Amino acid sequence: MSRGERGIDAGKRRAGEAAAGRCVRSGMRVGMGTGSTAVWAIRTIAVALSGGSLRDILAVPTSSQAEFECFDAGIPTTSLADPRVGGHLDIVIDGADEVDAAGHVTKGGGAALLREKVCAYAADRVAIVVTREKHVEHLGLAFPIPVEVVPFALAPVRSALLGRGLEVTLRHGSGKMGPVVTDNGNYLFDVRLPEPADVVELERELESIPGVVAAGIFAARTFDIFTAESDGSVTEPAS
Ligand code: 5RP
Repeated sequence: MSRGERGIDAGKRRAGEAAAGRCVRSGMRVGMGTGSTAVWAIRTIAVALSGGSLRDILAVPTSSQAEFECFDAGIPTTSLADPRVGGHLDIVIDGADEVDAAGHVTKGGGAALLREKVCAYAADRVAIVVTREKHVEHLGLAFPIPVEVVPFALAPVRSALLGRGLEVTLRHGSGKMGPVVTDNGNYLFDVRLPEPADVVELERELESIPGVVAAGIFAARTFDIFTAESDGSVTEPAS
């Protein structure tokens, strides 16, 4: 591991700890995000629960990875369908693949975009935890935007994406032959944009293609962004 990677790992931890410390209060319904940054929020919440400074959290994982991290950290989990949760979360703390200057984000590098989006759009507040290099001028040029597709619709969705001039790759996994199968039993196309796009419109357009269940653009809501800087500080949202 290089010195730079160690710095990024430390930043992920700082961002996750800062967001959990600032945003989570006793009695909240909390969406537990996916990825190597959000896991630090899970671990921070676990420490606060075991120390008694936090109580009565209803934790809803956004993926099987987040669920296993909660189990490892000793946090019991539940689902959006739990009547105590009532399909609504107070806060989600999650990572992102890219963040643009308008505060729009892309997600799904860990293939968890659908549940992440369901949770994010069902929450009062979403804290996004990232390190500084995730900030970009335009989304989808360097890091691809995933599009989750039901298997039956793979061919027509691929044609529809190509027809829009997008660069399209079916995501393949490691440790398994063939395509990645998401937690929801679907496939993923990774889509790269040829040029900057109106991501608010693109999110709507991609999700209007029959067979697409979610696009990894999360532009239809606002986020509180916690950014770990290379100097060891964390830039937090105002207020
Ligand atoms: C998973 C996600 C992750 O939150 C995103 O990929 C960021 O992950 P990491 O913090 O490990 O870079 O969207 O689907």
